Amino acid sequence: MKQLVMLFFLVPTLMLGNCFWGKTGHRVTGHIAQNHLTGKTKRALKDLLEGHSLAYVSTFADEIKADRKYSGYFAWHFVNYPLGMRYEDSEKSKYGDLITGIEECIQKIKNKENSKKTRAFHLKMLIHLIGDLHQPLHASRAEDKGGNDIQVQWFGEGSNLHRVWDKNLIESYGMTYTELATELDQVDRKERKRIQEGSIYDWVDESHEICAKLYDSAKAGDKLGYQYGYKYNDLLFEQLQKGGIRLAKVLNDLFK
Ligand code: ADE
Ligand code: ZN
Ligand code: ZN
Repeated sequence: MKQLVMLFFLVPTLMLGNCFWGKTGHRVTGHIAQNHLTGKTKRALKDLLEGHSLAYVSTFADEIKADRKYSGYFAWHFVNYPLGMRYEDSEKSKYGDLITGIEECIQKIKNKENSKKTRAFHLKMLIHLIGDLHQPLHASRAEDKGGNDIQVQWFGEGSNLHRVWDKNLIESYGMTYTELATELDQVDRKERKRIQEGSIYDWVDESHEICAKLYDSAKAGDKLGYQYGYKYNDLLFEQLQKGGIRLAKVLNDLFK
C-alpha cells in the first residue's frame, strides 16, 4: 500500500520532470524589477499583490504545478521550436506555450472588468513567465525536452543540462537572491534602455539562440563542475539581469 501511495505521487512528478528556473533565479529577476518600477506601477502592484514583493510572488507558478487543478498551465513555462528558426515562423503547440501564456496574462490583467482575483493570478503568472523566458533552455527544442533528457553530472551528482541551468549553476555560486540582485542591478540609464528594447518576440528568439549555444556546451555523460561555472556564470548573470530589467518594462507598460 505504502508503495502504491509513493507511486501515486512520484509518477506525475517524474513525468513532468524538474523543470523550473530555481527559486533563486526567479527571485533575483523579481527583486531587480522592483527597483525599476514607476510610481503608478508600484501602486497598482501594491493593490493586486496585497503588499507582497515581486520576488515573493515570482515562484507562485511553480508552487501550483503539483496541483492538478492547474495542470492546464504547465505548457506556459516553456516553448520549443527548431533551432535556427524564429518563434513567429514556428508551428505552435495546441496546449499553448510561454509566449501565448505571457500574452494571455497581459490581456487578463489589462481588462479591469476581470475580478481582482483573476487579475492577481495572471499577474503572478506573468512575473514568473518573464523569468522563464530568460532561461535559455525554456526557449528550446522539443526532442530532448529543453535538455531535460541530456544526463550529465554536476560535481559528481546526477543532473541534466536543463537542471544545470535552472538551478545547479546558480546554487553553486552560493549567493542569496538579494545579494545577486544587488550585484546585477548596477546598470546605468543607457544600458537599461538598451536591454529594454524589443518585444517578447525578440526576447524569445534571443533566448533560443543562446539555447543553441548551450547545446554545444555539454554532451550527455559529461562531468561538469568548476570549469563550466567559470565559463558560463557571466551568461547566467546576464540572463537574470535582462529578465529583471525587462520585467520592469513589461509591468510599466501594462500599468501606464
Ligand atoms: N518540457 C518539454 N520541453 C521543456 C522545456 N523546454 N523546458 C522545460 N520543460 C520542458
Ligand atoms: Zn526549467
Ligand atoms: Zn516556470
